[in-house]
Amino acid sequence: MAKRPRIAVVGSANIDLTTFTDQFPKPGETIFGQKFDLGFGGKGANQAVAARLCGADVFMVARVGNDLFGPATIDNFKKLGIDTTHVKQVEGLSSGVAPIFVEPNGQNRILVVKGANDALKAADVDAAAETLKAADCIVLQFEIPLETVYYTVAFARKHGIRCIVNPAPAQAIEMRALTDLDYFVPNESEAQAVGGMPVRNVDEAKKCAEMLMAGGIRRVIITLGANGSLLVAPGVSEHVPAFAVKSVDSSGAGDAFIGSFAVFLAEGIPELEAVRRANLYAGLSTSGVGTQKSFYDRARFDAEWAIKG
Ligand code: RIB
Repeated sequence: MAKRPRIAVVGSANIDLTTFTDQFPKPGETIFGQKFDLGFGGKGANQAVAARLCGADVFMVARVGNDLFGPATIDNFKKLGIDTTHVKQVEGLSSGVAPIFVEPNGQNRILVVKGANDALKAADVDAAAETLKAADCIVLQFEIPLETVYYTVAFARKHGIRCIVNPAPAQAIEMRALTDLDYFVPNESEAQAVGGMPVRNVDEAKKCAEMLMAGGIRRVIITLGANGSLLVAPGVSEHVPAFAVKSVDSSGAGDAFIGSFAVFLAEGIPELEAVRRANLYAGLSTSGVGTQKSFYDRARFDAEWAIKG
């Protein structure tokens, strides 16, 4: 049997407070929402869970608060079989939380309070060095300090480990720190913010991806929601359409894409097919409510892929 991929995620863990509403209150106004859901989230944790459900051995490096949510988050990782040796509680800080608002068409708006995620430092990456060195891929997002992201990218480069960065939420970045990065995976609004150019369609996304590559990134994948995704790599520029799925909540779809993509690549699946599979995995996640709890396990995904792939 082929070796199971080893995926390390250096990233965030949040508690998601998802409210379904068809309108937003004006200043000073109180209105009723339709439905509420409480769940485990955070871009890092979501990507770790997607990778685990796709069949990888997953190692999480994260910080949680010393509140009710901290131990619950660690327990959730453990129940899913994710290694938590490097997930620690931080005294005096809350856990990361994310109030999420979902419109009737499944579109989401997310507000993140980073809490303990902001306490994940380069020294914590050093403490996890032996675990990280054994990984097939290290996955990062922007809900932890950017210095920690840059430090980990440099660590991955030094040790020849594949590295994927999801620049979410978008922030001003030092492109030099991402030189030789294997995969940079923003969505349209993140690509627009980081690239400083409009990304309203596939052609604009291509221009933005090419510009990011000129800055030293090896490969760019821009996730385009219902339009699928765009892969731009040396000699490759492919728009990969989405699969038709009845979407009720798109929260966490980008994370589903990244976590599953890391696993498919580590399994040796060719890049373009790995993107197609990740498109389906992400699309399927939008058919359920919430982030992690809407992700498919590998058996369910493979059954869908056998029909639609
Ligand atoms: O990408 C979705 C995630 O963004 C949510 O789980 C929320 O916690 C925020 O991190």
